[in-house]
Amino acid sequence: MPDDQPPRDDGFQLVTRPGESGRRPYGIPLAVLAELTHRCPLQCPYCSNPLELEAASKELATEEWLRVIGELAGIGVLQIHFSGGEPTVRKDLVALVARATEVGLYSNLITSAVMLPRDRLAALADAGLNHVQISFQGAEPLVADRVGGFRNGHAKKLEVARWTRDLDLPLTVNAVMHRQNLHQLPDIIDMAVALDADRLEVAHVQYYGWALKNRQALMPTLAQLDETSRLVAAEQQRLKGVLVIDHVIPDYYAERPKQCMGGWGRQFFNISPAGKVLPCHAAETITGLSFDSVRDHSLDWIWAHSAAFNRYRGTDWMPEPCRSCAHKEEDFGGCRCQAFALTGDAGNTDPACALSPMHARIFALAETEAGSAQNAFLYRTFSGGTPE
Ligand code: SF4
Ligand code: FES
Repeated sequence: MPDDQPPRDDGFQLVTRPGESGRRPYGIPLAVLAELTHRCPLQCPYCSNPLELEAASKELATEEWLRVIGELAGIGVLQIHFSGGEPTVRKDLVALVARATEVGLYSNLITSAVMLPRDRLAALADAGLNHVQISFQGAEPLVADRVGGFRNGHAKKLEVARWTRDLDLPLTVNAVMHRQNLHQLPDIIDMAVALDADRLEVAHVQYYGWALKNRQALMPTLAQLDETSRLVAAEQQRLKGVLVIDHVIPDYYAERPKQCMGGWGRQFFNISPAGKVLPCHAAETITGLSFDSVRDHSLDWIWAHSAAFNRYRGTDWMPEPCRSCAHKEEDFGGCRCQAFALTGDAGNTDPACALSPMHARIFALAETEAGSAQNAFLYRTFSGGTPE
């Protein structure tokens, strides 16, 4: 997912098969993020892909994806989000969308849109694609093309967004926000309305992987965050019935952690380009976990038996303060990847929680980094990053 951050699924309820409710700390997986490739023409400094990107030669073949998509429907998955890297890099994308349609999955294309000609978008629509999500890095080319590290990307995105609506496909504008583009949010909202988008995701950067490396250059100030929250609340009212606006705030300034992925291994999973099945898009940043592959096991088996999924499922693994907390079945202790990134142990309480002993330190760190004069990016590349 190059210039994007993952889909949020915090609102999902646990769905179980008849007779299973209460026996297991997880239900039927409802949604899957299919990362078809890590190849991408953009180089966003907050990319949620791992630092070690998967080479094209390791990617699942078309036949493997077709089989896997069939298995998804068989275990109860309802939605597939085609992502990457840039999923349109894959020559077989239309065939994969057609397969998802054939087996009854709702399909969403998460794309940077810079490599999508109109006839290919039309072919995807004909194959049954249900929804398109396009990421924007700013409201105009100067900021947007710099953040994405791709010349003329912004203009191309606008063009594809218009084609999307011409083809009568629902459109979500995904705007990943940080210190260096938050001043453009009012114009991004106007842009989403002008594009006739159904939804705008105002998603502050979440700090793992590449974003963690670029944290000093991206972290917003508390004053910026307060102003954003005020603006979004006012615009949500003003644009009722016109545009749905979601707001995902940066964890470091939060009081309570997010219920990341709806709970670890509870209702969502991710398939990496090489076929590894992960509890979330960033799970490979946690060292010491090993992940099973669709090349070795069925998805049904992996969902039930994968050691990585079972490691942090439910609440039994929790330390204090989560273990005796009234919120433990609401947020499941927050985000495992963030706990690992900030404490070195994915089994700790997410420091985004005000009850974590590390919370004050994280909050102070955010304020310090927000005041940093370091604005240059380390761009995401296969060679381990390229300084701006
Ligand atoms: Fe959630 Fe744990 Fe914080 Fe309680 S202590 S609010 S369960 S993260
Ligand atoms: Fe991995 Fe939150 S991003 S658990």
